[in-house]
Amino acid sequence: METHAQAHPIVIAPSLLSCDFARIAEEVRRVEESGGDWHHVDVMDGHFVPNLTIGPPVVAKIHATATRPLDVHLMITDPDGYAEAFAKAGAHALTFHAEVRDTTWKQRTTIARFRDVGVEVVGIALNPDTPVERIAGIVDDVDLVLVMSVFPGFGGQKFMPEVLPKVEWLRARGYTGRIEMDGGLDPETLPRCAAAGADTLVAGSAIFGAPDMTERIALLRTAAREARAH
Ligand code: DX5
Ligand code: ZN
Repeated sequence: METHAQAHPIVIAPSLLSCDFARIAEEVRRVEESGGDWHHVDVMDGHFVPNLTIGPPVVAKIHATATRPLDVHLMITDPDGYAEAFAKAGAHALTFHAEVRDTTWKQRTTIARFRDVGVEVVGIALNPDTPVERIAGIVDDVDLVLVMSVFPGFGGQKFMPEVLPKVEWLRARGYTGRIEMDGGLDPETLPRCAAAGADTLVAGSAIFGAPDMTERIALLRTAAREARAH
């Protein structure tokens, strides 16, 4: 478990969903040379979301190349069944969706499972239409809450500002873990996430689509720090 004594340093997590999958090792290195903090890895099973991406063997290959932590976002219906495989593949942070574990008891079971298999940063994610109260029973037991700002499944969608009150609610309630946001973050929307209380910021198209990745990551980081300071 991470310690939560102070505000967490800003983490910029480029989403590999937007990378060139034919050159994944080079893309991982490019992200690191450009100043990315964590690699955000989107795992989709074709059931929870209408898209399929990658599984544990590919995550293990990414881990073999990476020197930065892997932030694995599980958009799958059976997080418990795959927890061990993703932990062994090298997931530093492992996040499951509240929609597939929809009671406090089920959420608690999954959190315990993730800890049993040695996950360091245990996260729970909320779709845009899932109320934050759905995780009230376990929120102090997770290291990270991922507030989705698009419906998961695809990169390049438009940011949904109506989810920002969930971040404010968590901070007002005294939640001290990491709050991550994912979906449609760019130089304009990302500072709004940081101002609301998010510290872990995922961006796919805004980073991989930038003419200069180093410059874009630096700009996002500065914008987040400034937004947080106000
Ligand atoms: C969406 C994924 C995101 C996605 C974000 O289902 O969870 O991580 O890669 O992409 P952008 O930043 O392009 O919205
Ligand atoms: Zn994601």
